[in-house]
Amino acid sequence: MALAVQLHDNILPPRDSSLRDEALAGFAASPKHLSPKFFYDRRGSELFEQICLQPEYYLTRTEEAILADAADEIRQIVGPQSNLIELGSGASRKVRLLLERLRPASYLGIDISEDFLLDSTRRLAADYPWLDVHAACSDFSDHLQLPDDFALEHPLVFFPGSSIGNFTPEQARRLLGHLHHILPTGGGVLIGVDLLKDKATLEAAYNDRAQVTAAFNLNLLHRIRRELHSDIDPARFVHRAFFNEDQSRIEMHLVSRISQTVALEGQLFRFRAGESLHSENSYKYSVQGFIELADSAGFDSSGLWTDAGQLFSVHYLQRRP
Ligand code: AVJ
Repeated sequence: MALAVQLHDNILPPRDSSLRDEALAGFAASPKHLSPKFFYDRRGSELFEQICLQPEYYLTRTEEAILADAADEIRQIVGPQSNLIELGSGASRKVRLLLERLRPASYLGIDISEDFLLDSTRRLAADYPWLDVHAACSDFSDHLQLPDDFALEHPLVFFPGSSIGNFTPEQARRLLGHLHHILPTGGGVLIGVDLLKDKATLEAAYNDRAQVTAAFNLNLLHRIRRELHSDIDPARFVHRAFFNEDQSRIEMHLVSRISQTVALEGQLFRFRAGESLHSENSYKYSVQGFIELADSAGFDSSGLWTDAGQLFSVHYLQRRP
């Protein structure tokens, strides 16, 4: 009976200095940039959950419908008693669509946001008393590490939400290559990937009318102001999101409304009026393009599910010998 969560702290948690170091480096760079992994403090994780409920943000509800429909087929491929590992587990909502039907032996949630991770894995443990629940706070974008005391037989890595889209295709191949390295032959990866589609639909999803995405993007600046020595004023920036067709990605930026100087950790940084801090990329793939990427990292495509509108895809990848 797993009413408690086993917390693995033998893997490296994100260093406290990483926001400071990466913000200093990113503000000094040209163009200025910061990694989207810093969106997810407690407030940012909550805002992200709100984004998922916005009518324009088709990704979450479409993926959830695909998973609910495909769960029995997924079970037939995976079999019972798998050890389920979720990357970027966040609120661990989507995995609930699979747990009853997959009946895995254990669940390990890995997330960068420790508070959020503990809350959500505790709720899972309470709701699924038969499940052995584990949690590990880690920045898997840096280097995915699994706790050495976690069973790796019959693993199924679950990476939903098109979070893979935050990586460049080259980084995505490297992450899959790393999974190929740590998984045994036959190990599975169930991964959600947002599909290329018309620009208007894509851009609406990142410019919701209720401005939740804008608040999510601007929270990055609130976080810097709160956690670092900085006088940065979020009101002096605007949210901007657009589809970059050449790169096949949505780009999010925080654009300076005015010419200004921002202090950060004792250093001064100039922003020209209209100059942007690039805060996120969200790559979009064709089904075939993603299958080829996975293939190049040593994975076979052994399951594919999409919705009728071809908005989103869920792939089951199997590690080749
Ligand atoms: C969690 C990376 C999949 O790119 O759609 C949502 C994050 N950013 N709205 C995405 C996000 C703005 C999301 N991912």
